[in-house]
Amino acid sequence: PAPGLLQGKRVLVSAGGTREPLDPVRFLGNRSSGRQGTAMAAAALAAGARVTLVAANVERDVLCEAGLGAPGSAAGLEVVGVESALELRETMLQLAAEADIVVMAAAVADYRPASLAETKLKKQGDDGLTLQLVQNPDILRDLVAQRAAGTAPAGQRIVGFAAETGDEHGTVLEYGSAKLLRKGADFLVVNEVGAGRGFGTAENSVTLVAARDGSAEVIGERRGSKADVSQWVLSRVVTSGPSR
Ligand code: C5P
Repeated sequence: PAPGLLQGKRVLVSAGGTREPLDPVRFLGNRSSGRQGTAMAAAALAAGARVTLVAANVERDVLCEAGLGAPGSAAGLEVVGVESALELRETMLQLAAEADIVVMAAAVADYRPASLAETKLKKQGDDGLTLQLVQNPDILRDLVAQRAAGTAPAGQRIVGFAAETGDEHGTVLEYGSAKLLRKGADFLVVNEVGAGRGFGTAENSVTLVAARDGSAEVIGERRGSKADVSQWVLSRVVTSGPSR
């Protein structure tokens, strides 16, 4: 966006992928690098916002790549580290109470181990090991609910990301639109995954969908670096007007 587009705005961004602890040394995780979220945070900073980045297991190199590296290196930026989905949820809900724009770019585990062992799990032998998992809360949906309950600045915009694949039952856009309406967010950045796109890659191709009067409206499409896509998404989110 043009410098100053987000002057005076507070932007909260989650990035990375959660780790769901199994015992003191093991976790279930995912391959999210945190590049999309750090690119969103960097774009918001460049547009003049005060930014809090909630980083779930983001490598230092990835922060550096986005210009968010050394502590205090970027004025107006605060980085908070979290590990698990429950930790991410608590941190996001707390910080969202004072954010004008909330971006959920983190890959949140759908499930976590039902119990956390206090000591390292022992090898179970030839019969294998069965893990019981329980569903994690949907943080995006909880952010929407918190806003609806009145705990958010007026006009807060909530943005989600969704990696989708199409199949015989629907297109990428149909799945993304349904997800946007189901979760109640204002915007969803939908990207098709597979074939060198999405996770872990530098290039991105996205469709931005907005919720308007109970239906999903395509705002536009953009193909480019994650930095370019981030700038574009933020400017659209700011200029597309209140969706509620
Ligand atoms: O359902 P799915 O994971 O595809 O939705 C993606 C969006 O929802 C992302 O913005 C992600 O950060 C968010 N999400 C969440 N809590 C979950 C799962 C996903 O906030 N438990």
